Amino acid sequence: MIKRKFFIETYGCQMNFSDSEIVASILSKEGFATTTDISEADLIFINTCSIRDNAEQRVLRRLKMLQSLKKKNPGLIIGLLGCMAERLKEELLEKEQVLDLVAGPDVYRDLPKLIRQVGSGQKAINILLSQEETYADIAPVRYDSNGISAFISIMRGCENYCAYCVVPYVRGLERSRAAASIIREATFLFQHGYREITLLGQNVNSYCWVNPDKTITGFADLLNQVAQINPLLRIRFSTSHPKDLSNELLHTIALYKNICRSIHLPVQSGSSRILDKMNRGYSRDQYMDRINAIHKILPDCAISTDVIVGFCSETENDHNETLSLMKEIGFDSAFMFRYSERPDTLAANNYKDDVPFEDKERRLKEIIDLQQSLSYKSNEKDKGKKFEVLIEGYSKRSKEHFSGRNSQNKVVVFPKTNDKPGDYVSAVIQGFTSATLLGKAVS
Ligand code: SAH
Ligand code: SF4
Ligand code: F3S
Repeated sequence: MIKRKFFIETYGCQMNFSDSEIVASILSKEGFATTTDISEADLIFINTCSIRDNAEQRVLRRLKMLQSLKKKNPGLIIGLLGCMAERLKEELLEKEQVLDLVAGPDVYRDLPKLIRQVGSGQKAINILLSQEETYADIAPVRYDSNGISAFISIMRGCENYCAYCVVPYVRGLERSRAAASIIREATFLFQHGYREITLLGQNVNSYCWVNPDKTITGFADLLNQVAQINPLLRIRFSTSHPKDLSNELLHTIALYKNICRSIHLPVQSGSSRILDKMNRGYSRDQYMDRINAIHKILPDCAISTDVIVGFCSETENDHNETLSLMKEIGFDSAFMFRYSERPDTLAANNYKDDVPFEDKERRLKEIIDLQQSLSYKSNEKDKGKKFEVLIEGYSKRSKEHFSGRNSQNKVVVFPKTNDKPGDYVSAVIQGFTSATLLGKAVS
């Protein structure tokens, strides 16, 4: 029997990429084969993101491009999954004629039924959010993997309601996945050659699982267990919320060499007034207190962040506070965004999106330029240091060089050795750019 082929394209955060692997698993059980060639697909899924308006616009433009494929192959099924499905619901089926199917992030088990419904000539939609679904029992199909690093979702949803953010509305209530199923998946990956896992959640610090014997596994306990699977398995995690980053967690990281010295701690703004308006639950001083705790407990830990410029009512003064905070901390890297109002969020309902576009643009450019110099300085400090690097593959530029990352999550490129991807090597850093460390393997 010829298998029907499906193609999946993913936008947004790592959790969406992880979800696409769940979708691939569900469809492969239904007899579909994955393809990386969109033109031969019988089924195309676009897994979407709503975090900023431009993320949605990109997907809408992509749907327009898919119209021609549909004309060539009228039997082709096109479905939209993920956060935009949840946010825009029926409106998508009404406005985007190319779509046959719309499914929110908590109903992927229902996809086979929805596909059959389309097969019988109807459009199909399910956007129910769940309070329990974690897909714990579904073994993800790692269709786009290097065989070395993998993501494991440990929780879903978010209840922090940061004023600007759409996630709580499109991903539903926060729920944690059974600890035993996480350990099982991580162990399986290690046994199959993987050497790095990233535990994913919108706020991993609030991971909480009640075991059958009523004991509670918190995030630090989970890390403890995952780290003990094997010292050769590196553990990363994302994202940590500053309001919940405990010293207990930092002390747990300090106990294990294989828990990576890299913390992503989104600050969003350096102004306490703006942080309060954003409903982030911490002030500038409280954020600094967490940074100082990291420096004290994990002296070699890299710190990265997310920043939003131009949030409602942000003044030049607030913006300067963000710049000064970034300088004071010297982040190793950062993702930086222009505020994008999302309909029905706390900010959209209560505040005016009143920073002119030109000001947002200029402020964004200022923080990007600053971060570029901070990243450069951070790499400069590494010159002469020796790091353990997990080889991930060849460098993009040359087959004569390997590329991997150190514990601090920095990319290290060095001349090829007799080792292979998945091996650890020691490398001494001899040069750098603002994005990459250049080194040499040493024994
Ligand atoms: N759960 C994570 C972040 C998830 S979204 C956390 O709390 O840190 C990733 C980043 O997108 C956020 O950290 C924020 O910087 C940015 N972001 C979220 N909503 C946004 C919006 N409406 N406009 C611009 N950037 C936004
Ligand atoms: Fe959004 Fe805040 Fe939740 Fe992060 S913690 S996903 S920014 S609401
Ligand atoms: Fe985007 Fe949804 Fe992730 S809105 S950032 S894909 S949770």
